[in-house]
Amino acid sequence: MAIPDSFLDEVNARTDIVDLVSSYVQLQKKGSRYWACCPFHSEKTPSFCVSPDKQMYYCFGCHKGGGAISFVMEEEGAGFVDAVAILAQRAGLQMPEADEDRGRQKQRERLYALNREAARYFNQNLSSPQAENARRYLADRGLSRRTITNFGMGYAFNQWDALIKAMAEKGYSKKDLLDAGLVVANQKGNIYDRFRGRVIFPIIDLRGNVIGFGGRVLDDTKPKYLNSPDTPVYNKSKNLFAMNIAKKSKAGRLILTEGYMDTISLHQGGFDCAVASLGTSLTEDHARLMAKYTKEVVLAYDGDAAGVAAAQRAIGILSRVGLEVRVLNVTGAKDPDEFIKKYGRAAFQKLLDGSEGQVEYRLLQIQKKYDLTEDSQKVEYLQEAARLIAQLSSPVEREIYGGRAAAAAGVDRKAMDDEVTRQRKRSSWQQRRREERRAMTPTANLQPEERKLRYQNMRSAMAEEGVIALTLMDSDLLALADDLSPEQFSSELLGRVYGILRERWQEGKSSTLDNLTALLAPEEISHLTKIMQQPQTRANNERALADYIKTIQSECVKRQVADDSDLLAVIQRKTMEEPK
Ligand code: CTP
Ligand code: MN
Repeated sequence: MAIPDSFLDEVNARTDIVDLVSSYVQLQKKGSRYWACCPFHSEKTPSFCVSPDKQMYYCFGCHKGGGAISFVMEEEGAGFVDAVAILAQRAGLQMPEADEDRGRQKQRERLYALNREAARYFNQNLSSPQAENARRYLADRGLSRRTITNFGMGYAFNQWDALIKAMAEKGYSKKDLLDAGLVVANQKGNIYDRFRGRVIFPIIDLRGNVIGFGGRVLDDTKPKYLNSPDTPVYNKSKNLFAMNIAKKSKAGRLILTEGYMDTISLHQGGFDCAVASLGTSLTEDHARLMAKYTKEVVLAYDGDAAGVAAAQRAIGILSRVGLEVRVLNVTGAKDPDEFIKKYGRAAFQKLLDGSEGQVEYRLLQIQKKYDLTEDSQKVEYLQEAARLIAQLSSPVEREIYGGRAAAAAGVDRKAMDDEVTRQRKRSSWQQRRREERRAMTPTANLQPEERKLRYQNMRSAMAEEGVIALTLMDSDLLALADDLSPEQFSSELLGRVYGILRERWQEGKSSTLDNLTALLAPEEISHLTKIMQQPQTRANNERALADYIKTIQSECVKRQVADDSDLLAVIQRKTMEEPK
């Protein structure tokens, strides 16, 4: 949906960025700016600042920045429109609704209603005489009646059109069923039930809407599980199974499993904080969703090679959004479901209490790679383990894990310590060299953080930054930039931004960072914020602008001449190569 500028301006006028940011982090005033520890990366000393005069924020540590809308997008993991909606709500404004949106909203509501009916239908089937085998299956898997009710489980009869008929009676059309992913169409366009002869797991969102289904066969037929496809109300990369229940848990953590049955068994065992990503590998959206409710995630993946690989990957994704991750060592059973059935809930609790931090887990994975009875492999193990330990910033942790790693390999403690020290020296030396190299080339500091935005012509780019900073602050200055065109810019991004500013100005609109947020990528907005952040000499803006324009245009001419002479050189070479 395109949000009208007039509405954005209204939202902007009623939003104070200092107010907004303070509702998320504690700001401290220093001079004309406010400072805090950055909410977007972890740090101990504040490098995140908010400028009330420019209505923007910028972090000198992670280089994220922007206006109020960018802040909400980043903080809430929201898209542009949702971010505006959040700000509008804060400001007590009613979001303008496009007709098309109202239509889409209607469709979503219809699908929620249909899914709810379908879930109720599947659940009722479980009590039918025809569902004897399904009841037996669930009982064999140890699920209590209470669990079945809590999760709203059900059964789809082994027929082609049982659901279609039942939903038709409730007034739902073929199109509704297709939209909800409950049926599949064949080549002739005839539809049949997607789920047949399967026990059904409804997937429920945070507000209690049924958004999709999973279905498991009762035997060894393939595929073992079928899931709803993505629909207007279901996105498998954004939703987690049982999150609707786990979000209310008092456990203070979430347990992440790979499957329906793992999660359900854990809930039945009293672990109401279990969730699962379904039929898809973990995404950053999943991670952000979890981070809204907890600081700590315990991974309870299968113990096989695939589970270990998935856990390694998940550690990265979860850590990146600032979650603390621990990994359960599920041994003696293939998955958490089997574990809790075999050894009981107390054993699982023990596992949970002793679940390893990621350092321990990684050390264990390294240890498994080597045959420690062989001396040569011992050395390799020592080196790899030391590399990991050397990265730990806390000396206490290095002490603990160094000791454990040495003991595990049966090597001398001092040998391990020496190796860790050696690796640390090496990496700090490497870092110093990198920093020195950067310091020797001062222009490196002026380059955008994002590699793909890097400047080709530094002299021109600095002037281009100046033009953007000035005209974004005061769009009327654009009147003085008549003969400067976006094509004359050396930086693609800055030229594009200049083009947007100029066009808006010609339409009689001024521009703020927030106006640009919808049109640019987050890293581009961050870079613009960095530019705006630099101190401006406000003494004579007209004069400064004229100088910048002169520089840009003369650099542009130089580039053209260079291009021409390249061309000339090519032509000359060609003529020389020409056979006589
Ligand atoms: N899965 C899927 N499609 C399949 C197999 C698995 O979508 N054909 C998804 C399901 O969400 C399943 C999860 O991957 O819950 C984990 O798969 P797996 O470990 O094979 O199944 P379990 O959860 O152990 O299932 P069960 O105990 O019922 O055999
Ligand atoms: Mn299983």
